[in-house]
Amino acid sequence: MAGSGLVRSLTLPEIREKARRRLPRGLFEFIDRGIDGETALTNNAAAFSRLRLRPRVLVDVSQRTTATTLFGRSLSLPLAISPTGAAGLVHHRGEAVLARAAHRAGIPFTLATRSLSSIEEIAAVTEGNFWFQLYPSSPDAFSLMDRAASAGCDVLMVTVDTPVAPLRRYNARNGFALPFRANRRALFDLLFHPRWCASVIGRALLDEGLPRFENLPGRPRITEGAPASEMLEGRLDWERLQLLRDRWRGRLIVKGILRGEDAVRARDAGADAVVVSNHGGRNLDTSVAPLDALASVVEAAGADMPILVDGAVRSGGDVLKALALGASAAMIGRPTLFGLAAAGEAGVTGVLDLYAEELDYALAMSGLPSVDHAGPDLVVRT
Ligand SMILES: Cc1cc2nc3c(=O)[nH]c(=O)nc-3n(C[C@H](O)[C@H](O)[C@H](O)COP(=O)(O)O)c2cc1C
Repeated sequence: MAGSGLVRSLTLPEIREKARRRLPRGLFEFIDRGIDGETALTNNAAAFSRLRLRPRVLVDVSQRTTATTLFGRSLSLPLAISPTGAAGLVHHRGEAVLARAAHRAGIPFTLATRSLSSIEEIAAVTEGNFWFQLYPSSPDAFSLMDRAASAGCDVLMVTVDTPVAPLRRYNARNGFALPFRANRRALFDLLFHPRWCASVIGRALLDEGLPRFENLPGRPRITEGAPASEMLEGRLDWERLQLLRDRWRGRLIVKGILRGEDAVRARDAGADAVVVSNHGGRNLDTSVAPLDALASVVEAAGADMPILVDGAVRSGGDVLKALALGASAAMIGRPTLFGLAAAGEAGVTGVLDLYAEELDYALAMSGLPSVDHAGPDLVVRT
């Protein structure tokens, strides 16, 4: 992998800073912020800082690997890209760019339902090797699932942590809620970001008009359709999950679990994996950090199925901490969006390179020849 010269020597906070300068403020906050007082967001990161590695010494690590397998497929490292709606606003055809970079890097990309690239476009750039995310309460859940299957997708991720539309007041204040209805603040914001306007909105207008939610019925433009409430406030219970499971023939991942007994119930309902997640601290400000919930979920269900985790995984060392607590892989949402904003595909590749390089380094420094050697003895809580 080779990131662009623009990002190669940068750290993740520096890439985030580059993204902050490039994007309209409202869009940057749409990505970067959590909810209300940002408690969950801060706490997600703090959970990683509280955990420290205890390196083992005098181990031969001259031959080591970050590779792993998940669902019978090999991954270059135990990492996947989390679904992030409207990534197509960060960069022209943003989801396709993320998907291509992930595919080239040998890790899975998850396409969010509320994306601006179509399922079929993502299938083409990944040779069908991608994950598709669905809100189970969406009235279109079944048709979307069938569409993903027809495109060759065989891993469905069902997000269960959002029973009502999230209350993120800053988006409305910034004029960056979806559907997009610019207020005076947003208009000024756009005026000061002509480069973003030209490269994202301008290019879309040249293609075929304002970006559209390509996977929603009628392909509504970003200014027209898809208020979150439409997709989220339908039926959401275990029976609904079961109905989806009965219809979906591929692997099923349930995303948004924070309790061991829910992981067990998901497994019993036929889930092949769960993601321990609090939606990147974007939903319930008082929720537990996923890293703090991980061990109990692993203890309850980890022997029988892979457990993934996301939320503030910001380095290869963080990936290793998650593995030590029993995760099979970690996922990231915002970091690859920052890379995308900073330098397009090379920026995403640059961010994935950072994780790969740091994980390899953390393995070596911790005396571990492979990711399979990480266990609970590796970490200590401070
Ligand atoms: C801009 C943005 C949009 C998101 N959209 C979705 C979504 O449509 N579906 C979903 O399941 N999760 C969504 N998430 C949550 C991510 O999948 C993921 O759980 C979270 O970003 C992980 O935390 P991190 O950003 O700290 O790595 C979104 C997150 C962000 C930042």
